[in-house]
Amino acid sequence: MADLSIEFCGIKAPNPFWLASAPPTDKAYNVVRAFEAGWGGVVWKTLGEDPAAVNVSSRYSAHYGKNREVLGFNNIELITDRSLEINLREITQVKKDWPDRAMIVSLMLPCEEHYWADILPKIEATGADGIELNFGCPHGMPERGMGAAVGQVPEYVELVTRWCKQHTRLPVIVKLTPNITDVRKPARAAKAGGADAVSLINTINSITHLDLDRMVAFPIVGNASTHGGYCGSAVKPIALNMVAEIARDPETHGLPISGIGGIGNWRDAAEFIALGASSVQVCTAAMLHGFGIVKEMKDGLSRWMDEKGYANIAAFSGKAVPNTTDWKYLDMNYAVIAQIDQDKCIKCGKCYVACEDTSHQAIARLVSETEERTYEVIKDECIGCNLCEITCPVEACITMVPQQTGKPYMNWTQDPRNPRAENVATETPERVLI
Ligand SMILES: Cc1cc2nc3c(=O)[nH]c(=O)nc-3n(C[C@H](O)[C@H](O)[C@H](O)COP(=O)(O)O)c2cc1C
Ligand code: SF4
Ligand code: SF4
Repeated sequence: MADLSIEFCGIKAPNPFWLASAPPTDKAYNVVRAFEAGWGGVVWKTLGEDPAAVNVSSRYSAHYGKNREVLGFNNIELITDRSLEINLREITQVKKDWPDRAMIVSLMLPCEEHYWADILPKIEATGADGIELNFGCPHGMPERGMGAAVGQVPEYVELVTRWCKQHTRLPVIVKLTPNITDVRKPARAAKAGGADAVSLINTINSITHLDLDRMVAFPIVGNASTHGGYCGSAVKPIALNMVAEIARDPETHGLPISGIGGIGNWRDAAEFIALGASSVQVCTAAMLHGFGIVKEMKDGLSRWMDEKGYANIAAFSGKAVPNTTDWKYLDMNYAVIAQIDQDKCIKCGKCYVACEDTSHQAIARLVSETEERTYEVIKDECIGCNLCEITCPVEACITMVPQQTGKPYMNWTQDPRNPRAENVATETPERVLI
C-alpha cells in the first residue's frame, strides 16, 4: 500500500493533508478534532501582536452555482482574535498530545525586526515544527502595513524571511499572496532570504455579489462592505498555475512547495503534487463540509497511487512540471478533431450553437424528413478548440481525437509562419519531448 507520509522541509507528517491557517485551525478544540479525523498537520490560525485583532460581523459571502453549490468563498476576517498567551498555551498542549502531526504556526507582525526577534523564541518553546509567514492576507492587515502589503514587495519578503532565519532554528515557510502580477518574484525573494519552503496561494481580492436593493456588496457590515479574500474551488486553476510557475522557474526549482487553493478532494491534491507541491493545505472545503473529508482524500489518493505504482508522494511530486511549458514550445503540428458519439448524444444542440456562433462552424445540424436532428462534425472545418466538448452536457459524448499528421514536432520558434523566426534561435527544449 502506498506510503502517504511526508517530510516537508524537515517537517514530518503521516500524510500530506494539512489544514490551512484559518478558522478550522484557530483553537485547540478544532485542531484536536481535525487530528482525530486524520489530518496530517495544521497551520495554526495566524498569530500577531497583542492586543489581538478585532473582527466585524458579518464576515463571509459566496459565489454560487446554479444549484446553490458554493463555487467560491469570500471572507473579510482578520488574523486570530484570541490572545497570544491562550494560543501559545493551546499549541503547546496539542503538539504534546499529537507529536506525530505537523504543527506549523502562522505569523503576521509589523515589518520591524524586534517584533520577530521577540515572538520567535516563544513559538519555539511550544514545540511547534515550523513557522509560516503570512504575507498574503488581502484585507484589513495590508492597511496596517502587514500581510499582502509585505508579500507584494519582494524586498520586504526577503528582509523578513532573513530576520526569521536569524532568530529561529525552525523551518520557515513563506506563504505567498496571489494578488501580484508575477508570483515568481516574491518566491525568489523568499528563497534569497533563506526560506525553507513556500506555500501558496492565500486569498484573492474579491467582491462576490451585491444586494441591489441596498446597493451594497456582501458581506454587509452595517450599510457598507469591503473587498475580501476569495478562495474555494473557483481559485484552484489560479493556484495550480502559480504553483507550476514556481516549480518550473530555474531560480526556485526544487524549493519545497505547500500547495493551497480550492483543494476539496484527493484528485485536486494529486494535481497540486504533480505540479510540484509536496504537501497540500485545505481551508474552504473543510469549512463547508467538515473535517471528515480527509478520509476520502487519504483513501482516494492512496488507491490511485497503488494503481499507478507510486510508492510514496515523492514518486510523483513534480511529475507534470516538465510537461508544463511556454506557449512557444508547443507542437504546431499537433492536431485534434472533435468526434461525437451518436449513441450518447441527446440531440440538445448545444455543441452546434457554440461552434456555429463562436467557433469555426464545424458542426452540421442535419434534420431528417421525420424532423429528427443529428449533429455531425465537419472534419475539414474543425480546428480542435475543445469548445463543443466543454459545452456538451453528456460526459464523454464528444471526444477530441488526435490526428496522424505525419509531421514532426515543430514549435513556434522553428515555424516558417513565424515572422520573427529568423531572429530567434530555434529551440527544442528537452522537456517537451519527454
Ligand atoms: C475565513 C478565512 C480566514 C482565513 N484566515 C487566514 C489566516 O489567518 N492566515 C492565513 O495565512 N490565511 C488565512 N486564510 C486563507 C487560507 O489559509 C487559504 O490560503 C485560502 O483560503 C485558500 O485555500 P482554500 O481554497 O482551501 O480555502 C483564511 C481563509 C478563510 C476562508
Ligand atoms: S472542436 Fe471547436 S471547431 Fe471543432 S467542432 Fe468543436 S467547437 Fe467546432
Ligand atoms: S452537445 Fe453533446 S449531446 Fe448535445 S447535441 Fe452536441 S453532442 Fe449531442
